[in-house]
Amino acid sequence: METETVPRAMVTTSGELRERTAQARAAGKLIGLVPTMGALHEGHLSLIRRARAECGFVVVTIFVNPTQFPPGEDFERYPRDLAGDEAKARAAGADLIFAPPTSEIYPPDDSTFVEVTGPLVECLCGPHRPGHFRGVTTVCARLFNLVGPDRAYFGEKDYQQLLVIKQMVRDLHFPLAVVPVPTVREADGMAMSSRNSYLSPEERKAATALHRALSRAEEQVEHGERSAAALLAGVKEMIASEPLVSLQYVELRDAETLDALTALDRPAVLAVAVFVGKARLIDNVVIAR
Ligand code: PAF
Repeated sequence: METETVPRAMVTTSGELRERTAQARAAGKLIGLVPTMGALHEGHLSLIRRARAECGFVVVTIFVNPTQFPPGEDFERYPRDLAGDEAKARAAGADLIFAPPTSEIYPPDDSTFVEVTGPLVECLCGPHRPGHFRGVTTVCARLFNLVGPDRAYFGEKDYQQLLVIKQMVRDLHFPLAVVPVPTVREADGMAMSSRNSYLSPEERKAATALHRALSRAEEQVEHGERSAAALLAGVKEMIASEPLVSLQYVELRDAETLDALTALDRPAVLAVAVFVGKARLIDNVVIAR
């Protein structure tokens, strides 16, 4: 009697990945890609659910990408939970999880990077995390080539990353659509992030200052405030009132080009980075005007 083999939910080699995506493509399915570094939370799951709703075959990649962590950052202690991630990704609708070892993405003899240059990477997180975006675009380019997605899903919490990836996709003619997905927040407004797990209960409470500060800025805008200086001052004041939170930057920038703005005279992003204990956290609001 013939037994039907159930395809494995998780693969670790590019050969297995290509075989499965080729089958899906041959069956006429749209391929959706959700690239992640694991430690999946509701934010990631919303990307997977969106991909599930729009695509016939959903690939979730789980790879803690060493090249996007500048020296001294948290690569070694970045949270890892492959078994838990597999269960969560499957439950959210992933057809296939690709969790490669580092050598599968970066063969020992490789020497190619993909780098977006210019204003998009020279502001906000760029100067504070040298080489970070080069690492992100390099791994995403490699994953796009391996998976061959029709659509790739990225969270708006990493707003600058989203713009940098869109730029790379345009410049290198990757035949795929980059789909932005809104930030998912905890009940108290805190943006979901794998790095929230670094926070002690006290730090976690203090970290809500990030969202409170951005919400207050949104309220100021609703009441007619248009001056960047006034909005930035409000955020700085709120962050300064929390002794456990230290500000790295707060900036108001054009929502598409990331040009610095002195007045809210076009769609803009108000973006903040802070340290809370050992955790570096970012958040933003897009203000359409
Ligand atoms: O946003 C992330 O989790 C990572 O930067 C990404 C896009 C998976 C690349 O490693």
